[in-house]
Amino acid sequence: MSRTPEKSRVILVTGAAGGIGAAIAELAIARGHRVLLTDVDEDAVLTRARALGERAAAHALDIRSPEEWSRAFDAAQERFGAVDVLVNNAGITHTGNARDLRPQQHRDIVEINLLGTVTGVCTALGRMTAQGHGHIINVCSMTSFLPLPGYATYGGTKHGLRAFHHSVAIEERDGPVDFTIVHPPSTRTGMLAQEMADPTSAIAFAEKSYAPEQIAEAVVDAVTSRPVEVVFPPIAGRVQRIAGVFPGLMRRVIPVVEARGRRQRARLLSAPGIPSSGN
Ligand SMILES: NC(=O)c1ccc[n+]([C@@H]2O[C@H](COP(=O)([O-])OP(=O)(O)OC[C@H]3O[C@@H](n4cnc5c(N)ncnc54)[C@H](O)[C@@H]3O)[C@@H](O)[C@H]2O)c1
Repeated sequence: MSRTPEKSRVILVTGAAGGIGAAIAELAIARGHRVLLTDVDEDAVLTRARALGERAAAHALDIRSPEEWSRAFDAAQERFGAVDVLVNNAGITHTGNARDLRPQQHRDIVEINLLGTVTGVCTALGRMTAQGHGHIINVCSMTSFLPLPGYATYGGTKHGLRAFHHSVAIEERDGPVDFTIVHPPSTRTGMLAQEMADPTSAIAFAEKSYAPEQIAEAVVDAVTSRPVEVVFPPIAGRVQRIAGVFPGLMRRVIPVVEARGRRQRARLLSAPGIPSSGN
């Protein structure tokens, strides 16, 4: 089915060297947008952008640095014009139960997933308010609704990001900037491969995982439709969003879900040709 051509927008994507960010950049370009791909891994993001042609450019951006955020917005402006859409996608995890992570690992997760994204939102807000339009899309996680074993600090940053996101969106309700938050479930990227390597992350394999292209489709669709919040899977995700509010219920349900995740992980590990990805 042919799509109605979309208005070409300038989109800045973080964490675009691989995984979900790279899939977002690729699909956005295929739909006629212009994309500044950014990542802390400069060589990888340059290589990725080169493969995407004229409507792609790359810039090094460690989202922890306010100065690098300003330079990335300047680079986008210089190459394509003002940034219409920021896709805050970069994020990390360190697998393991909270008591086993080093203090620096806890800090890295918070500094990147939460504070790095907050810095990006604030940088974008200043510029987009001044230019009179803009759209901020934060890529969060279904763990923002659920207390999950093996995801204490990671889930903590995603709970925090969701609260921050919606609070700012309400603060800015009379301004010119739109806000969308997208919550991927387990997605077959380097992050899921990292989780496959650690049995404490078994719960990530309890449900069917998604391809990064499926998450990218929701994000790039959101550039036009500007939804408030997107959960995965569309129906079960809504149930999970409510279940997470009840920790007593979660304590009863999680052992069952975790056991299913362990079985699925073992099955995937023993399947020929799928050494490190979800189902
Ligand atoms: N893969 C999943 O199962 C899953 C599930 C839910 C949410 N998410 C979220 O989706 C987003 C993308 O994850 P992914 O699975 O594509 O991960 P990924 O590890 O495949 O890619 C993450 C990218 O972010 C970059 N990055 C890391 N630290 C950075 C920093 N300080 N500044 C800029 N870039 C940095 C990495 O170099 C990498 O290119 C993350 O926010 C993640 O939390 C992923």
